[in-house]
Formats: sequence, structure tokens, C-alpha cells
Amino acid sequence: MTSNPLITVRVQCMRFEAEGVVSVELVALDGAELPAFAAGAHIDLHLPSGVVRSYSLSSSPLERRRYVVGVLRDRNSRGGSRYVHEQLRVGAQIKIAAPRNNFPLDESAPHTVLIAGGIGITPILCMFNELKRLGKSVELLYCARSRSEAAYVAALNEQDGVCTHFDDECDGPPDLRAFLASRKASDHFYCCGPTPMLNAFEKLGVELNLPHVHIERFAPAEPVEAVQGSEYEVKLARSQKLVRVPAGKSLLDALLEAGADVDHSCREGVCGSCETRVLDGTPEHRDGVLSQSERASCKTMMVCVSGCKGASLVLDL
Ligand code: FES
Repeated sequence: MTSNPLITVRVQCMRFEAEGVVSVELVALDGAELPAFAAGAHIDLHLPSGVVRSYSLSSSPLERRRYVVGVLRDRNSRGGSRYVHEQLRVGAQIKIAAPRNNFPLDESAPHTVLIAGGIGITPILCMFNELKRLGKSVELLYCARSRSEAAYVAALNEQDGVCTHFDDECDGPPDLRAFLASRKASDHFYCCGPTPMLNAFEKLGVELNLPHVHIERFAPAEPVEAVQGSEYEVKLARSQKLVRVPAGKSLLDALLEAGADVDHSCREGVCGSCETRVLDGTPEHRDGVLSQSERASCKTMMVCVSGCKGASLVLDL
């Protein structure tokens, strides 16, 4: 049994939301409530094709009888979005993992600035609606290549605090530097979108000294390979096993071969499902989930891509 057991759900509804984007509504087989989540959370879809993919929840955390995710058909799909668009149908049963949240909202912020690029609107939509519901000060910059590719734009356009930018109507992408520089340093900034946008946002956050910058990645900042350097040993504190991780093997693969119960999904260090507590030793971090301070604390690690800086680690497994 995994620590995040799978739930079987039914595809209740699929909707065209924009060019290349469908939303998928999932409900429990018996119509019961699904596990609670907070804005910014994602779920892993375990597709019948054997592929596991993470998708952000766009529906309200108050709606406990359904989850809604938005899925962009990725031209370079390795089987996830292509399966959803071409084969998944209303009525199908699929397995999902309960929601996880690597992108939590700080609801105490005096003002929140949300920035979405393309399909990055899915968690941002949920966050925007939640902050509005709570009566908080929030604004949203929603960018897409064109209006026809911008999911949920019609409903958002009717709301105060929403600004849209379509590259084909504005001769190119938005001036993110000018946008961020015109906001207050006390604002909290959240961005979800394509990798180049996230990289630019992250860099500008450092350059402009913005202390409250949050991002959600569904792909690594740059191609990442699991640490596969020299051999090291890993002690599993709970099961009292000793696992040797030879050069050329990822820590996740070594753990799975040793029979350890480790959740995993993306294997790219971005979904957070393989996060494991470190009890001793220094990890070599390669993931895109942990902040600098979380990395420095050495309390947890993503075992799919990260490894060991010394000769041994002790993990809470
Ligand atoms: S499996 Fe996704 S972060 Fe490790």
C-alpha cells in the first residue's frame, strides 16, 4: 500500500474550454465527498495507459463532490495529455491520488498578484476565486498566445482585478519586468505557466528583491537527470533496511527495488509526490519543488532526482 492510496473516480463531464484545452470533471463512484484540498493543489491522474500525470485543480475547495482539472493537449505529449484528449471519455473510471499542494496560498498577504501563462490558469483560477470569496485584495494577469487559446477567459473577463494579455494582439509577450516593478515588495506573487515564463519570473523576483515569490512547475526549469554519481548507502529507519545505491542508478529506483513504499509520479522533481523525510546525511538536491531554505535545512528530499552529497543518508522509510 502506498502512503497516498489511489481513489477510483468517474469522468462525469468533459468540456471544450479553449483551443487545445479540455476540462475534466471527476466524481467519486458513489457520489461521496472527495478528500479536501486547498487552492493551488494538484492531483495525479493514473491513466489506463499506465502514464501518471499531475494536473492542477481549478474547481473550488468548497465543492467536495467533484474535482475539475484543465488539460492542455501538449504537442510533445509522452502519453498523458494525448490520452486525455483522444481516448478518455465521459463515464470512464480512472484512478487518482489524493490532492497534494506544492503551491499553497498565503491568505494573510495584504495584496496578492497572480500571474498565469496559458494552461497555468488552472491553479491560478482556483486561487483567484478563493481570494475573492474571502474578500482579499487580489489581481490577476492572464497571458496567452491568443484569446482563442485562453481557457476560462470569458468568465474571468467579467471580474474586477483581471487583466489579460494576448501575444498576437500585443505584438509579443508582456513586459513582466515593468509589471512586477510597479507592484509593492510586500505583495505576494504567484506564477504558473510555461517554463520560460517561470524562469523569467523567478529571475525578476531576485533582481527586483521581491521576498514573496511563489511558483508552480509541471516541468523542470531545465532538463534534469537524477543524481547518479558515486555509490552511497541509505539506511531506511522504519524498516531497518540498508540500501546500496550504485553509481548509475537513481535513489528512487534503488528504493523501489529494495521494496520501499515510495509514492512517485513525474520522476522529474516537479510534482512533489516522492518527497521523503531525511533523518541524517546531506542530500544533493536537483528538484524544482523545494525552496532554497527548505533545501538548506536538509529535512526532506525528492528521491526521484536527488541524491547524496556524502557516503550515506538515513531516510524516514
Ligand atoms: S516523482 Fe515527482 S517529484 Fe519525484
